[in-house]
Amino acid sequence: MERPSNNTADTAQSLLEEQRVWCAKIRDIAASRSKNPLAYVDTYGCQQNESDSEKLRGMLIEMGYGMTYDEYSADVVIVNTCAIREHAENRVLGNVGELVHTKKAKKSQVIVFCGCLAAVSKTVDKVRSSYEHVSLVFPPNKLWKFPELLYRALVDKKRIFETDDENAFVAEGLPTHRDHKVKAWLPIMYGCDNFCSYCIVPYVRGRERSRRAEAVISEASSLVAAQYKDITLLGQNVNSYTDPASNCASGGLSLRFPALLKKLSDISGDFLLRFMTSHPKDAGAELFEAMAQSGKIAKHIHLPFQAGSDRILKLMNRGYTAREYLDKINLARSLMPDIVITSDVIVGFPGETNEEVNETIALVEAAEFDAMFTFIYSARPGTPAAKLQDTVSKEEKHERFDRVVTLQNEISEKKHAQYIGKTLRVLVDSKAPGEAYPFKARSNGGRLVHLQAPPEQDGGNREMVGEFVFAKITQSNNWSLYGELYG
Ligand code: 5AD
Ligand code: SF4
Repeated sequence: MERPSNNTADTAQSLLEEQRVWCAKIRDIAASRSKNPLAYVDTYGCQQNESDSEKLRGMLIEMGYGMTYDEYSADVVIVNTCAIREHAENRVLGNVGELVHTKKAKKSQVIVFCGCLAAVSKTVDKVRSSYEHVSLVFPPNKLWKFPELLYRALVDKKRIFETDDENAFVAEGLPTHRDHKVKAWLPIMYGCDNFCSYCIVPYVRGRERSRRAEAVISEASSLVAAQYKDITLLGQNVNSYTDPASNCASGGLSLRFPALLKKLSDISGDFLLRFMTSHPKDAGAELFEAMAQSGKIAKHIHLPFQAGSDRILKLMNRGYTAREYLDKINLARSLMPDIVITSDVIVGFPGETNEEVNETIALVEAAEFDAMFTFIYSARPGTPAAKLQDTVSKEEKHERFDRVVTLQNEISEKKHAQYIGKTLRVLVDSKAPGEAYPFKARSNGGRLVHLQAPPEQDGGNREMVGEFVFAKITQSNNWSLYGELYG
């Protein structure tokens, strides 16, 4: 199959049409069998991967497959992998290794290795030589080609290793089987051009490309019409979104991320828009004003800062100083006093000194994030940081990790305690095990709220999933809030 020349929408469209033909061929094979074939999709990593898995499931269903959570009964097992840290990689590889048993029990089983690790050549070589039970490998940018690749794996009975395509195109219209009925992922851009020195994402997901605004708005409208209440716009760098129509003379909508947010909030209906993950370089007054002005955009931003030392930030190629980062979040808070700000930080970057960790600690103290994810630096093959000498010992990395996590836990606990006695409008998004708090809900700022059932005279255990309700917060800890229905 040819590569889409010039990335034109027409070429992309014809490639996707061809995939529908492959889908139909597999459906014919499935229909000729006495019972429906089954597929199991195992997902690792970030929300983008979860969204990709929803597309894999959508394609599988179109090909006549039913879904199962049992690897042994599955005819196709898909492992959608993550490459962000070595730990994630080892976990995936360990689990893929275990699949040798399911393949032994069911010789016809097709085991698929896709996602970010399938774009790392060293890992693919390892799968080729040491995981012979894996029969199909393809990188994230070839997701759209899954029907054809699966057909070849099923019919030719050969192992297939599809290679990456850095200049991937945006595949519109892939079928999606959503896991959730209330919350939906809505990818708006793919790839990353930032090349933070530690990060493998730009190498495995390729260059940044945005979906057409018209396509995003149309999908969001369909989601709202289908009663989805919590829509998260996804992108590795979500706020660098730019409508590709603005680069051509086709007369399409021409807009950047804040303008897209405004357009999406014009869709009528009661729903919340979230977005992740934002890069500080593209977060400024225009974005914060768009958030402040719309009741439909959640007052939450996940804005990773990664390090508090300007020297380390420079080595990381982040494009801002600690002061500039703090100025941005201060601006956000001045426009939205109740905004929830969460972040990511890495400790143990090569050459990081104790003083530099103290600068990270100082930033965490000053920023007072509502929540923060702390990661220990992990060298990723092919990234510039992996060439730097890793001077920080394992023990030091863990000690720094513990210090930062302890501090943030104290801050989160304090921030969450401030909700006690307050009443929040929350969206009930799922049921939870246990009798005391049988529902899980999210506040506008994305805080997890464990919710008691309504009193008997008010419907008892009535089905509240999908409803916006008011919750009076009664307890909290560093991770979540606890509340009862109010009014
Ligand atoms: N090592 C440790 N953490 C990393 N992250 C990204 N790459 C690495 C790495 N090589 C973290 C960053 C990012 C989050 C998703 O994962 O903090 O924001
Ligand atoms: Fe990695 Fe930076 Fe891209 Fe985030 S923005 S995925 S940290 S390169």
